[in-house]
This record gives sequence, structure tokens and C-alpha cells, in this order.
Amino acid sequence: MNYPDLNKARIRSEKEVNYIENPMVDSSLFFNKKYFLRTYGCQMNEHDSEQIKGILDHFGMSPCEELESADVIVLNTCAIRENAHDKVFGYLGRIKHLKKERPDVIVAIGGCMSQEESVVEELKKRHPYVNIVFGTHNIHELGTMLLHAVSGYQDIEVYSIEGDVYEHISYKRDSHITAWVNIIYGCDKFCTYCIVPYTRGKERSRHLSEIVSEVEDLRSKGYMEVTLLGQNVNAYGHDLKEDVEFSDLLEAVAKTGIPRIRFVTSHPWNFTDKMIEVIAKYDNIMPYIHLPLQSGSDRILKLMGRKYTKNEYLTLFCKMKERIPNVAITTDIIVGFPGEGESDFENTLDVVEKCKFDGAYTFIFSPREGTPAAKMKDETPLEEKEERLRRLNERINFYSKESNQRLVGQVVSVLVLGESEKDSTKVYGYTDTMKLVNVEAGKDTIGQIIDVLITDAKSFSLDGVLEEGVNN
Ligand code: 5AD
Ligand code: SF4
Repeated sequence: MNYPDLNKARIRSEKEVNYIENPMVDSSLFFNKKYFLRTYGCQMNEHDSEQIKGILDHFGMSPCEELESADVIVLNTCAIRENAHDKVFGYLGRIKHLKKERPDVIVAIGGCMSQEESVVEELKKRHPYVNIVFGTHNIHELGTMLLHAVSGYQDIEVYSIEGDVYEHISYKRDSHITAWVNIIYGCDKFCTYCIVPYTRGKERSRHLSEIVSEVEDLRSKGYMEVTLLGQNVNAYGHDLKEDVEFSDLLEAVAKTGIPRIRFVTSHPWNFTDKMIEVIAKYDNIMPYIHLPLQSGSDRILKLMGRKYTKNEYLTLFCKMKERIPNVAITTDIIVGFPGEGESDFENTLDVVEKCKFDGAYTFIFSPREGTPAAKMKDETPLEEKEERLRRLNERINFYSKESNQRLVGQVVSVLVLGESEKDSTKVYGYTDTMKLVNVEAGKDTIGQIIDVLITDAKSFSLDGVLEEGVNN
């Protein structure tokens, strides 16, 4: 497979130093220091940040909420759309100011933006005070880079080659109830609009036994839910020597007995019947599937390189609805892809009317440098794209509220995650279909799966009361 040369194999500054050769540098220098970590983007980045926190924790550091109180600042960036870039560069303006007052503050930029050579160049030119730039393939090197930085060296090191899959990573997890578990890294799909295959590299699956033992360990620590993570979970296993695929993994994870399992994200192209069967068979696999549609027009789907047609998507969708009891299906949709006309957009609306999604993330196409779609002719004015997005969101919100309203009067199981932010007499949690519920219940329910009678539905959440006590 050919990757565009977005990065040099290794971009290292001239002041490179090996801290092992420098006995004066000692990680205890960071002991009791404060770090400020900001995470942009998807769940994959959230989970990578748990790895970053694990490294900072290992150095004896603790988190702080205020940028101004930090000794180390880490931005874990996202490159999926232009506004993600803008947010990071906007924030860097604030950091630049801080760095003038406190030059000793160490600034590290990681994540998907760091994998783009043009971004690295811009950082060098406009933000030369940044001490560390690291990518998505070398998070484990952050500790070493911090030691370099404390000796006054700048480290700009981003790998374009993904290398081996690392195991036994010390995460500092954000929750004691739900946990992310990586199953496959990278993406080989190369949808024409998407930067991910370039920033995250080719697909690499973890061994099934490693994933299962991670889930068993989480279960023994009392975790109630795992989310199996991948840009493309259905592609799991194709790169391994063993003859395993996603349905085998799902089954093995279900057999650990962990109370809840979900997975993101699925690609409609390689979602097999066997996967549907396994989801339907095990009670602890949540009936919730995020199945990005992107467009309902065959012409646009082809230009996007999505490998399915509108009808194939609808057939898969119906099969899921038929075979998995009470399944909730959510989606992603892009409007204003280059060349999208009104009739293409109407096909997208048609799929929305037919599928009545439980929810959707909707976006206006954002050209990403280095992707094929960025070079495609795009004549639709932004106002027209915004108008399409508005029309789309109106239908999406209608069906999302409708799917919530169907639950009023029903008893559903809710995994309670914490105290409600708005009302301390309530707790909040999620149904097994990933609907947010605020429940009148005590804090003793946190971390448990409880039966809840749904009393009211809003567009994006439900209200409920405890039904016949805690059941787990
Ligand atoms: N422009 C707009 N949306 C995009 N996505 C990915 N790349 C782009 C882009 N260039 C959306 C897709 C994907 C979701 C994570 O982000 O809908 O499923
Ligand atoms: Fe991007 Fe397509 Fe891969 Fe999803 S499947 S990460 S949209 S290239």
C-alpha cells in the first residue's frame, strides 16, 4: 500500500540528545509537578490520553484544571476536520502568551495533527517555543521526550511507519466503571475524504488473547462495561496469522462475563451475518451499533470510496433491525461532499426517513490536505451546504426524539455512571442502547446496572425513576 509522503520517516531536531547518556536528567524532577492535558477528537484520542496520563502519573505528576497552573502542557490533537485544526492553533495562541511569562513550562503537542508534515512545519515556524512534538505511533516515547525537554532540548519526533503493536500499556483510566479497549489500530479503507489512514497508519489487530486478558483484568477490577475500539472494528483479525475475525473476538469477549460490551466504529462494507448473529446471541453484547452512512447517494458513495450502495446499506440496516432485538442504530453523515447536488442530498434524506436513526453525527465536508477529495471540484456554496445540514439535522433530531419517546412508560436497564451535573438528587447513566438517562436515585447506585422506569423523553436524554430497586 502506498502512503502519501505526509511525514518524513523520523523528524528529529538537530539538538537530539539521548537522556540515557546524560545521567544528570532524572524523572524525579517531575515529581509533584502539575500537568494540563487537553484532548480533541474521537474516542481513540480519549483512550490515547489515558496512556499519556499513565506516563505522566508514572513520573509522579498530577493533573490540574487551569492551563496557568501547569508545569507541563500536553495537547492531544485531532485532524479530522478543519475546525479541529483551528481550535488547536487558537489554543496555542494562549499558550504562546503563557510561555512568554513562564518559559520553563514544557509544551508537548501530540495526536493526529502532529502526523501532518504541514502542521509540523507550521509549529516550527509559528510556535518554535513548543518543546515536544510527538505522533500517534510513538506516544510511549513521551517520557523520554520530557526528560530531553527538561535539559533544554527540543524534540520533534513523529513516525510515519506505525511499527509494532504495543502491549501492557499502563493506562490511567478516566472511569472505574467503563473502559476503552483497543482491538485494531489504523485504517486501510482510504475513504477519499478522510485523513485517518494517513495519521493512524495501516490496520494492525491486537492478538485475541491479549484483548481477552485485558477484559478479564478489567472485569476482576469491577469494570461493568468495555468499548472495543477501532476505526474499523469489523476489519479485526484480517492481518493476523490466526484465522480470527471480529465475530470470534466478540464471542470470546462476551464469554468473559463482563456485564456490557459495545464497539465502535463499524464499516457497513464488512459487517457479516455472523457478526449480527453473535451480537444477537449474547445478552452482554449491547444492542447498539454505530453504522456510518456518510451519504445516501450511490454516485457520492462511489466518489467517497465507501464500497457500498444505498440499497446495500438499507439491506444491512434491515437485517440488523430484524435479527437483533431492540437494536439502536446511530450514524455519521457528511453533507456537501464535492459534486453533491440536491438530488444526491435527497437520497441521503430518503435513507434517514427509512432508517429513522436513533441518533447521528452530521458534518459539512471539510477538505483535508493530502486526501483525494480535497482535489475534487467543489462548486456548491457554503450557504447551500449549511442549509442542507440544517434540513438534515431537523429530520435527525425528529427521529432521535421519537426513538426516545417510544421508551416512555417502559422499564429499561441503566448503567449508572455518576451524579447528575444539573441536579444532585439525580444520577445519570446509559441504557444498553446508549441513551442518556437522568434517574431519581441515590449515589449508592453509581457503578451498578439498575432498572429504570422512563417517565419523560427529550431530544437528547430521558428522565426516569428507580423501578423495584437495584437488580445487580
Ligand atoms: N469532512 C467532514 N467530515 C468528515 N469525517 C471524516 N472526514 C471528514 C471530512 N474530511 C466524518 C465522517 C466520519 C466521522 C468520524 O467524521 O462522517 O465517520
Ligand atoms: Fe476514515 Fe473511512 Fe477509515 Fe472511517 S473507514 S477512518 S471514514 S478512511
